Amino acid sequence: MKILYAASEATPFAKSGGLADVAGSLPKALVKDGVDARVIMPLYGDLKMRDKLEYVTNYSVPVGWRSQYCGLFKAEVNGVTYYFLDNEYYFKRRGLYGFYDDGERFAFFSRAVLETLFYIDFTPDIINCNDWQTALVPVYLNLYYRHLDKFNRIKTIFTIHNIAYQGKYGTDILEDTCGIGRRDQHIVEYDGCANFMKGAFETADKITTVSPTYAQEILDPWFSYGLDALLREKQYKLCGILNGIDYDVWNPHRDPLLPAHYDISRREGKKTCRRALMEGFGWDDDGRPLIIFVGRLTEQKGVDIMLEALERFMPDKIYALIIGSGNEFYNRKLADFEASHSASVRTVTAFSEERAHLAYAAGDILLMPSLFEPCGLSQLIAFAYGTIPVARATGGLADTVIDADSSPDGTGFLFADYSISELEAALNRALMAKEEPERWNRIVRNAMKEDFSWNSSAKEYAALYRDVITAD
Ligand code: GLC
Repeated sequence: MKILYAASEATPFAKSGGLADVAGSLPKALVKDGVDARVIMPLYGDLKMRDKLEYVTNYSVPVGWRSQYCGLFKAEVNGVTYYFLDNEYYFKRRGLYGFYDDGERFAFFSRAVLETLFYIDFTPDIINCNDWQTALVPVYLNLYYRHLDKFNRIKTIFTIHNIAYQGKYGTDILEDTCGIGRRDQHIVEYDGCANFMKGAFETADKITTVSPTYAQEILDPWFSYGLDALLREKQYKLCGILNGIDYDVWNPHRDPLLPAHYDISRREGKKTCRRALMEGFGWDDDGRPLIIFVGRLTEQKGVDIMLEALERFMPDKIYALIIGSGNEFYNRKLADFEASHSASVRTVTAFSEERAHLAYAAGDILLMPSLFEPCGLSQLIAFAYGTIPVARATGGLADTVIDADSSPDGTGFLFADYSISELEAALNRALMAKEEPERWNRIVRNAMKEDFSWNSSAKEYAALYRDVITAD
């Protein structure tokens, strides 16, 4: 089985969020299971591990009525072949997205993914596209390539990692930039806009998302950012498969970024990690619980209610460490919060892999008060490190965290409503449990016993791929 995994970011080369982790670890797990899975992504200016790249060839790619250069490079990491598409005008910039011409950049990328198939010795059975940046791949495949022998059997899967970002532009982008003529524009038009994600919903053979609960939630207007009616129509081809994490990277027993190691039966190393973190941040540890947050600072992640709720545990009930980067608004809010509680709060707004690993290891409790959460990877990492999530019961959080007040198998604490007082109450329940060492020990053991490796999810993907290939 041959799978081309098209994504705008993938570890270890480029990362802004969880999509990169998935694109870096699912193909690796598929390859282990004997699937020929390869990744294709843009060659960004600040791509990591550039010295691994090998030049293959170049060709031109249509972008509307123009032609643009596309260089092809490749690399092999962990048994997975990665293809990189190079165009310095589009991708040699600082950062991955957020530019005025993102629509054009990813229309180019999506078209280039298909053109690349003329130049490599690999015809996939399935192209698995991810999020709006690759949403035009199935649209272009149907419009411009389907009639060619090489392409007529290729199936497509579109995976939603976050429906909040759809690739929405004015309709004027369609003809001039995307090269989609008037007759076909209905495929990508929605609500008077060009909407790349809508185009994928129309044309992909299957739509998947990253947890079963999120697959249900996005049928509801509260979660769908306007696309629920359309998704209800396409529900016959929609399903949710939970993400996994890569335990080669996230394993406190042999994590090279930690000062000490530990596992479920010997946890002294966790204390050493705490000591190192406390020293590093200039805290004179008086034994208070350490509450951590690791994530993008966006509305989605619940930063607003989090800061308000934490306020209620100040000045001296907890230590709080917040790691993540976001826009100016949230960076400033965080700086103010730290300034007014300098004895108990530390914030790190430049993302650092090293500090994130140490925080997961040293922490007692991880906060994930997300407004919505398609899957969420932090809670899974926290389990592995024996750090207990306090999370909102939404999306993948609802599918992975078991409330310790309702089950002996509990692995965390859940709350339902997106409100400061519910988050405060859940955190209070966690802190109370923490005061009973035996009970806390049991929760930590339950969490560390969980297995969210890609093993089972990769098998679900492989089964889905098989179904899609054989269906007609
Ligand atoms: C997005 C979602 C997150 C998910 C990740 C990987 O970042 O917000 O919930 O875990 O994609 O699928």
